[in-house]
Amino acid sequence: MGELVEVYEVGPRDGLQNEKREIPVADKIALIDCLSRAGFRRIEVASFVSPKWVPQMAGSAQVLGGITRASGVRYAALTPNMHGYGDALAAKADEIAVFASASEGFSKANINASIAESIERFTPILGAARHIDLPVRGYVSCVTDCPYDGPTPPEKVAEVADRLFALGCYEVSLGDTIGQGTPDKVAHMLLAVRERVPVTRLAGHFHDTNGRAIDNIDAALALGVRVFDAAVGGLGGCPYAPGAAGNVATEDVAAHLQRLGYETGLDIDVIEEAAQMARALRGWHV
Ligand code: HMG
Ligand code: MG
Repeated sequence: MGELVEVYEVGPRDGLQNEKREIPVADKIALIDCLSRAGFRRIEVASFVSPKWVPQMAGSAQVLGGITRASGVRYAALTPNMHGYGDALAAKADEIAVFASASEGFSKANINASIAESIERFTPILGAARHIDLPVRGYVSCVTDCPYDGPTPPEKVAEVADRLFALGCYEVSLGDTIGQGTPDKVAHMLLAVRERVPVTRLAGHFHDTNGRAIDNIDAALALGVRVFDAAVGGLGGCPYAPGAAGNVATEDVAAHLQRLGYETGLDIDVIEEAAQMARALRGWHV
């Protein structure tokens, strides 16, 4: 059997948060229940953020309350502050995630805080979670490029990843938020981050906006990363451009890893079923 590479499913959160059309909670639950049969260990299903900022995630408590939880699967939710943390606990999320940026411009645009302020907000979340043994994942966005500040220095990514790891995040997911990464940029960034955070605690989160996500995954695999975030059906593209690439598609990542001889533990048929549901949710009947 090949070496294990884990695919962390983020479609119900990172994918669906971008949809302009209001997706009924029942449809989200049906998608997650299907994904629960696919063999994932972790599925990100919810986000307890301001509904004024991300209206699509407003039904997150109902989603977590309505899914049929499979044993061995952890259902995760994003929490930007203590308000979100309280809501995630009430909804019985199995793990939570805090999300920072390696660039100031995106940090301000996404969570209305500087990087330093965001770390201050996350500190009590990590403190509270530690007391109840709740796993906390950390995200760093804009790890190669920022839509506001341009290219991101690898050292800045390393610094923010290190802060999250030191605060107690069990894993830090490195996000190429706008899909501007290339294998070269990803490798430079990872070489810097690996100096500060063990590579076994890193994950790759590559958006496929420019069609380079799989190449970037290969670059990260070569440097020892063994966890990759992906969204079934490639959910997460621009709602005004049907067919536009969003998060890298889970089915593509799973097939690619399989071709390379890695073990993913995923059932490709179930993933294809979920991918069809995801595409139908977006209104594409392909
Ligand atoms: P703010 O406006 O500065 O917050 O937003 P505030 O504390 O001043 O509160 C304003 C209002 O929001 C108040 O309500 C609060 O109660 C409410 P009002 O008095 O006006 O009625 N509020 C909340 N409501 C629900 N849940 C909460 C919450 N917090 C405050 N948790 C804030 C700051 C962080 C809240 C806002 O900027 C926000 O929600 N941002 C989230 C943005 C987001 O979700 N982005 C997408 C996820 S990140 C991502 O996709 C990247 C990733 O995939 C990796 C990658 O690709 O790079 C992870
Ligand atoms: Mg993302």
